[in-house]
This record gives sequence, structure tokens and C-alpha cells, in this order.
Amino acid sequence: MKIVVLAGGISTERDVSLVSGRDIYRALKENGHQAILLDLFLGLPEPERALDQLFGADIDWAASICSVSAEAPDLESVKALRPGYRSLLGPHVLELCTMADIVFLALHGSNGEDGRIQALFDLMGIRYTGTGHVSSAISMDKDLTKRMFHALEVPTPPGVTAVKGQPFMLPDEVGFPCMVKTCCGGSSVGVYRADDPDSLAKALEEAFSYEDQVVVERCIIGREFSIGVIDGKALPIIEIAPLEGFYDYKSKYQAGSTIETCPADLPEETAARMQKHAEEACAAVGIEGYARVDFMLDARTGADYALEINTLPGMTPTSLLPQEAAAIGYSFPQLCEWILQVSLKKYQ
Ligand SMILES: Nc1ncnc2c1ncn2[C@@H]1O[C@H](COP(=O)(O)OP(=O)(O)O)[C@@H](O)[C@H]1O
Ligand SMILES: [Mg+2]
Repeated sequence: MKIVVLAGGISTERDVSLVSGRDIYRALKENGHQAILLDLFLGLPEPERALDQLFGADIDWAASICSVSAEAPDLESVKALRPGYRSLLGPHVLELCTMADIVFLALHGSNGEDGRIQALFDLMGIRYTGTGHVSSAISMDKDLTKRMFHALEVPTPPGVTAVKGQPFMLPDEVGFPCMVKTCCGGSSVGVYRADDPDSLAKALEEAFSYEDQVVVERCIIGREFSIGVIDGKALPIIEIAPLEGFYDYKSKYQAGSTIETCPADLPEETAARMQKHAEEACAAVGIEGYARVDFMLDARTGADYALEINTLPGMTPTSLLPQEAAAIGYSFPQLCEWILQVSLKKYQ
């Protein structure tokens, strides 16, 4: 197939997305597809040849993509490369996507996970991997996600939404320690733990510098897990144990900063219950194709809580979802193929 792998953009997860894109692109080529890797925002300013000849051409599109640094990317310097830009889509991105049989979305964060690209592609008749625009938009917003979880009885930590400029009282059912999270952040950018009123005030102030709405929820003390769901069925569970603090941006993307175990060491009954909750969490927001649900398991009570749904989870061979697929025998290129297949179901 002719496939455009779309990565980058100008969300805080730009760098991670570029690495996912590079690895997906290489896997698809290995699988025999005619693939192109494009940066959503930078596009292809000066194509070397006619656009329709780019798919089969002998070009290494991944050559220019670098690795993720420990700090969140400098988006201002990326934006400066397209002075006065209006469209989020760089030159020739839309034309190339229209020519492709399917677009493999390697985007993460607000560009791509919030549903706007999916809505645009639906209108344009462009096929893409992963879930549609409504479930993307709900999953991007932690406040909306929690509302859906409540409505469909998927367990999630007790929480409230604080609004900038309005008085805020911490409900007793949340209490300390609590987590303060921007509604639409990702990669733990805008996530803080507060242990007392002073640190809560500071966390709220910081979170409000990003967004006007933030979720404040009970901090669940215990082990952390993530569960991929493909085609409605949960994969084996992966446990994530950061060596320091919580699973923040640095521990997410720097090798050796977390211990990841898949399949997680859990009693069979607990694992089955969490997998069921992951499937229900995806059903609650209407996930099509695939997604990954983050969980905490309370060390004191043994209860599990769904934190959020990632509709375009990280896709390097060492990312969480690929590790889970590997546990049931799927190589990374086979996983990419599986994702293409389940995504094409939307169009049958
Ligand atoms: N209620 C909670 N209790 C304990 N830890 C939490 C809680 N919410 C978030 N965390 C920690 O913060 C990290 C990021 O939070 P998450 O809700 O997954 O947002 P995102 O991954 O989009 O930044 C989690 O991986 C976990 O380590
Ligand atoms: Mg998360």
C-alpha cells in the first residue's frame, strides 16, 4: 500500500512522535509498503519530484529524524521555521495524504490525539489508523474522560475539575496527597503531585499557566500499569515502575529510568479484572481500532483505577504497547500490520 506516516507537529510530544514515526516508517518499508514519513507541521517545502512519484522513490525519509531529548521540545524554534503560518498542516501534507491508501498516524498529544486531524481527514475522504474524531476528543480531555468513566462505571480515582479564576475547595473524598493534571496535557507535562495545601496552591497555579481547566484527583499509592486494547480485546498488562518519583516526562522517554515488566506479575484474577476494565474504558468512549489505558492499583485496598486513555500511544519497538504485543508473539512490524488491518475495518 501507499502509506503516509504522519509525525511531529507542534504539540509538547513532538519529539516522541518523530521517533514513533521513524520506527513505524521503517517497519512499514520492511513489510513491503511504499511509505513516506512526513512532519505534520513542517511538511515538504521543496519536493524533489512530482508528488505522486514520491511513494515508490528510493528516499530515506527517516534520515533526518533525531532522538528524544530529556527536556520537552522547543516548539518556538520549530514554529519559527514557518513564519506567519496559519495552517497546522505544512506544505504538501494534505496532497500527499490524499494520494495515500491510508495515513498511519504517529502523532501524539494535542496534534493528532485531539480528533481534529481525524475530523478533517473524514471530510476529505482520507483513511487513517486508529480511532475517530469524537473518541479522540473525549480521550484527550481528562475531565470528559472521567465523566464517561463515571457514567459507564469504569473505576477512576475520585476527582474534581478546577476552573481558572474560580474558587476551589478540595473535596474530602479526594484529600491529600492529590494529583493536579491539566485536562488536555500529555506525557506528564502539566502533572503535579500535591501533599499539602501549599503545594496544591502552587500546583494549581502552574497547571493554570497551561490551561483553564485542571483535574484534581486522589493520588493512588501503589503500582502503575498500562493496558493496550486492540479491536476491543486487551493485551497482556505491562507494569511501569519509575526509579524515582512518578512516571514523568523524563522517566517516560529516557532509557533506563523505569523498569517495565510485561506480562506484569499479578494474580490471574486481578489481571483479568483490569483487562476487563481496560476494554470497558475503551468502549465507554467509543474507541475504534486501538488505544492504551493507564492504570493505578491501590496498594492498600487492591482496587484498580483507570487514569486515562491514550488514543495514539507511543510506537517505538520499546514503547509500552509494542512490548505488550511482543508478549503475545507480535514483532513490531507485525504489530504495525495488525494496526493497519483493524483500522481499515472502519472503511468496510
Ligand atoms: N490519580 C493518580 N494517582 C497516582 N499517580 C497518578 C495519578 N494520576 C496520574 N498519576 C501519575 O502521573 C502520570 C501521568 O498521568 P496521566 O493521567 O497518565 O496523564 P498523561 O500521561 O497524559 O500525562 C501517570 O503515569 C502516573 O505516574
Ligand atoms: Mg498517561
